Amino acid sequence: MYLTKEEEKALKGELGQGTQQAMELLVAIGDAYEAERLVPVTRAHAASSGQEGDLYFVELLADGGAFCRVPTTTNPVYDLEYFHQRFKIAEEEAEVARRVMEGYKRLGAIPSWSCVPYLNENIPLFGEIVAFSESSATPYVNSVIGARTNREAAQSALAAGVVGKTPEYGLLLKDNRKGTHHVRVEATLKDEFDYTLLGYHVGKAVGYGVPVLSGIQKQPTTEELINFCAMSNTSGAISMFHIPEYTAEASSMEEAFQREVPEDKITVTDRELERTYEELQTTSGEADFVMLGCPHYTLKQVGEVARMLEGKKISSKMSLWVCTSATTKLLADRIGYTGIIEKAGGHVVVDTCIDEPCWSVYKDKVGMTDSPKCAYYRRFREAKVARLRDCVEAAVKGK
Ligand code: F3S
Repeated sequence: MYLTKEEEKALKGELGQGTQQAMELLVAIGDAYEAERLVPVTRAHAASSGQEGDLYFVELLADGGAFCRVPTTTNPVYDLEYFHQRFKIAEEEAEVARRVMEGYKRLGAIPSWSCVPYLNENIPLFGEIVAFSESSATPYVNSVIGARTNREAAQSALAAGVVGKTPEYGLLLKDNRKGTHHVRVEATLKDEFDYTLLGYHVGKAVGYGVPVLSGIQKQPTTEELINFCAMSNTSGAISMFHIPEYTAEASSMEEAFQREVPEDKITVTDRELERTYEELQTTSGEADFVMLGCPHYTLKQVGEVARMLEGKKISSKMSLWVCTSATTKLLADRIGYTGIIEKAGGHVVVDTCIDEPCWSVYKDKVGMTDSPKCAYYRRFREAKVARLRDCVEAAVKGK
């Protein structure tokens, strides 16, 4: 890969050891993908976590004096004080999370601790080249916004944030953004939950590629698109997709495929969504708790939970958790949503995710969620996946 004089200096360590290590990673990736050069990024999102794999790289860069040269947001870890008080987290687990959060702060990253940074804290524009990791974030910024990112790891996104550059390959190039699979949607999409099922099914059916969806009858909402992104990039590796007319880069099927539309197609009917729904249930037993907000709930979704819980009480047999970003919770507090949920006995938590060690208290329990991704990464024994309304109702009834 061609490097400028300044980039050579960074690789030789003349800009500090931490930057050198970030540069080594980017050059290795660039060489592996036969990129011709590095290109500037305007922003990054690192899929941080309170786990050891993340700790190693973050401290490696921070100890080497690196710092983020472009705005770089962070994914959920967990609020140590909050969870320690409730769940008595093992000291060695807590120490890892504390050091990860400290490491990102030393690097000058923006401590957003959210998996939907593209909604509030770190919003790319059409055409921007960025380095975003995290399952919903990568396809959302590529497809919905029309910015350009590869499917980064936490480490490669952080390295790009530190160097301010990324190797030019993959989805940064127009050719690779063209559709690879035609998905004809004949299923009825009633709400956000149907988009989670659709995403999960499409991810599994396509595996790796750029699906182009036809048959969508109306503009999907932000939440529906977030769900489609998160689920298709969990059951499969979908970093980009097109819904002609509704996503950023294609107004027609021909434009989405950058040529003729292939004759072969994957057809999704109500039957496929029903089957996906059934596959996601790992138990028919009673749930012990409800987990919502994977990906982090938007303000609208927190509001929906509040409206469903207004004047009700969550059963003493169940607990109900809503995960969101600190930015969203601030507004939910001001509007009064948090108060209503808490009055009903629920919890609104920030900075965390179901895949974090802070939830290990539930490892032998059955969790109910509206998110197939939450069920997939679960830290609990069994999962029931259901519509939001059914989850909330179960929490109130205690069964
Ligand atoms: Fe977000 Fe964690 Fe779910 S990062 S999408 S809450 S698994």
